[in-house]
This record gives sequence, C-alpha cells and structure tokens, in this order.
Amino acid sequence: MKKFSGKKVCAAVFISGRGSNLKSLINFSKTKISPIKIEIVFSNNKSAFGLKFAKEKKIEIIHLNEKNFNILEQKLAKILNERKIELICLAGFMKILSNSFIKKFNGKIINIHPSLLPKYKGLNTHRRVIENKEDYTGCTVHFVNSKLDSGKIILQKKIKIFKKDNEKTLAQRVLTEEHKIYPKAIIRLFS
Ligand code: GAR
Repeated sequence: MKKFSGKKVCAAVFISGRGSNLKSLINFSKTKISPIKIEIVFSNNKSAFGLKFAKEKKIEIIHLNEKNFNILEQKLAKILNERKIELICLAGFMKILSNSFIKKFNGKIINIHPSLLPKYKGLNTHRRVIENKEDYTGCTVHFVNSKLDSGKIILQKKIKIFKKDNEKTLAQRVLTEEHKIYPKAIIRLFS
C-alpha cells in the first residue's frame, strides 16, 4: 500500500452480524492517524446488528437483494470500483468470497480471525483451542487469498489462556484484543 501522506484512502467494511470490530474500525477511521475513511459498509445479512453503528455514523450501507451470490459479488464489485474503494476490511464476514472477486481486489482485502493463524482456521476457534488444552491463543489480521484464512499475516496478538477460561471468557478477551489490533494492522499497511 502507498504510504499514508495525510490523504485518507476509501475503505469498505464487510460484516455479517454483531459488528463490534466494525464499531472499532469506524471509531478509528475518525481519528487523525487513520489512513482510511470508511465509505461503505456491506452486509450479506440485512438485519446484522452491526449495521446500527454504520447508520448512526451516517455511513452508506449496501444491501443487495440478490439470491445468486456470484451475481451479487459482481454487482458489489461494480459499486466498490465506482466508489474507488482501495481497501476492503472483512470484520466478522461469514461468507466465503469467490476467487474471481478476490482476484479483482488482489492485495486489497484483509480479514481479522480469532486465532493465532496458521493454527485454528475456520469456525469455533475458541472451543477447539480449549478442547486441545492450548496455553496460548490470539487473533490475526491477514490478507485474504483464495485459501481460507491462509493469506499473508499483517499482525498478530498472542493471549495467555488461563485454567479458569471457558469458550465465552476467552472469546471476550480475544475480542478486546481484536479491537486494538485491527486498527494497528491498518496503520502498518500504510507505513
Ligand atoms: C470476531 O471475533 C471475528 O474475529 C470473527 O467473528 C467475530 C465477529 O465479531 N471472525 C471470524 O471468525 C472470521 N472467520 P464482530 O461482528 O463483533 O466484529
């Protein structure tokens, strides 16, 4: 990415549900040190709770009424290009993007995942981490490529797992760190 010179780059955030990472990214984007401004929020789920933050901050929400996901992606790509979106941040986006969409925005899509990748790709990370009696877990911001949760890592945060931790407490502690590392990873991208 081009070094941040003070002129913010247009970004889009894709979500599917709660949207706490979206909220943290919106708050970050309003700061002076943020290299991005969030122009668009897209959700594959029109009742996603997180859309409420976007509405509050008057950020445009894109919801496409299209059952065929390939066609939907084509329409979405057109909108993103028209709006000159240069960074797409996946934040709890639970749909897998097609290879052709990823190619179109090569190197411009990043994701946050609640584990220390390459360990625990996919779903239910906290449950699996506890079942396997791991000592550490964490979260990772990485580029999106054609393989699930496998793109180049931008930033990770490691977290100690306590004996008393369960899936819920661990998810909460990891999430608190996610809210900090996603903005940090974006700063790193433009440094
Ligand atoms: C976050 O923990 C995020 O890392 C995870 O979903 C949660 C969304 O929370 N993403 C994935 O598991 C992607 N594979 P949020 O909607 O409150 O940001």
